[in-house]
Amino acid sequence: MLSKKSILSVDDLDTGEIMQVLESADSFMDISRREIKKVPTLRGKTVASLFFEPSTRTRISFEIAAKRLSADIVNFSAQASSLLKGETIMDTLRTILSMQVDLLVIRHRDSGTVKLMDSVVNVPVINAGDGKHQHPTQALLDIYTIKNHFNRLEGLKVALVGDYINSRVARSCQSLFEKMGLEVTIVAPAMLLPEDWSGFKVEHSIDRIIEDTDILYMLRMQFERQDRKLYPSVREYNRYLSLDMKRLSRMKKDSVVMHPGPVNRGIEIYDEIMELAKEKGNNILIDEQVTAGVAVRMALLYLVLGQS
Ligand code: CP
Repeated sequence: MLSKKSILSVDDLDTGEIMQVLESADSFMDISRREIKKVPTLRGKTVASLFFEPSTRTRISFEIAAKRLSADIVNFSAQASSLLKGETIMDTLRTILSMQVDLLVIRHRDSGTVKLMDSVVNVPVINAGDGKHQHPTQALLDIYTIKNHFNRLEGLKVALVGDYINSRVARSCQSLFEKMGLEVTIVAPAMLLPEDWSGFKVEHSIDRIIEDTDILYMLRMQFERQDRKLYPSVREYNRYLSLDMKRLSRMKKDSVVMHPGPVNRGIEIYDEIMELAKEKGNNILIDEQVTAGVAVRMALLYLVLGQS
């Protein structure tokens, strides 16, 4: 049982609750490996998944997670809804709640909208990403992936590389990773950092950390959230921030590469590395992150709903 009704931010979970999520995810990972990938845990519960912004990983993994727990899940897509006929978002919400749903999973392009929606409903809400603000379930699946790979967390060195200022993933991961004892460095030029980055450990080029980092976490360049051009050119980005084969070869033998997806090939990560990632036994954990997403979201649905 979690102490808060909803999970809107990684700060809604204390370290004990985070460990509870990771331990539950372990048992749900086992279920996903079985031939019959289904348990009756949430039979009779209804989850509504409301996405006001595009998604592949988060939306589909929440759907699979709910189905593996035998919950009913309905998917709302803004583009195919009565929002296009002028219905307000709050009236849309009231309409959906009138159908007696038990939990809402919400993604919205504007920071703070998920919190606002949570404040007017009496069912739990899980934030599936709001604007530049928070993406708590991504950070949880990332810490799960790291723990599974290294079998420890304390003292691991992680570098969050790239478009920090526009990234809800970066904000959530930084906060959660530090809470769990990892050492976080932000690798970004000043134009991709917030105005006040005092208190952060910052480097401006990937070359400064590549040989010493355990986890190289490449952030997606958030073109859709940039209201002005924040970086001079792709060539310049490649020079200071991209991961190519040469840089990959300089990483410690047991270090890993992560990316929340979707990857902009040739910007954050070069094509050759994305191709290498398809082979088994490498230390590029992008597919492992996606797999973990189902188990961690099953754990969250279970912990938020299962005991109510
Ligand atoms: N990482 C992530 O949130 O991906 P989607 O936008 O595909 O859900």
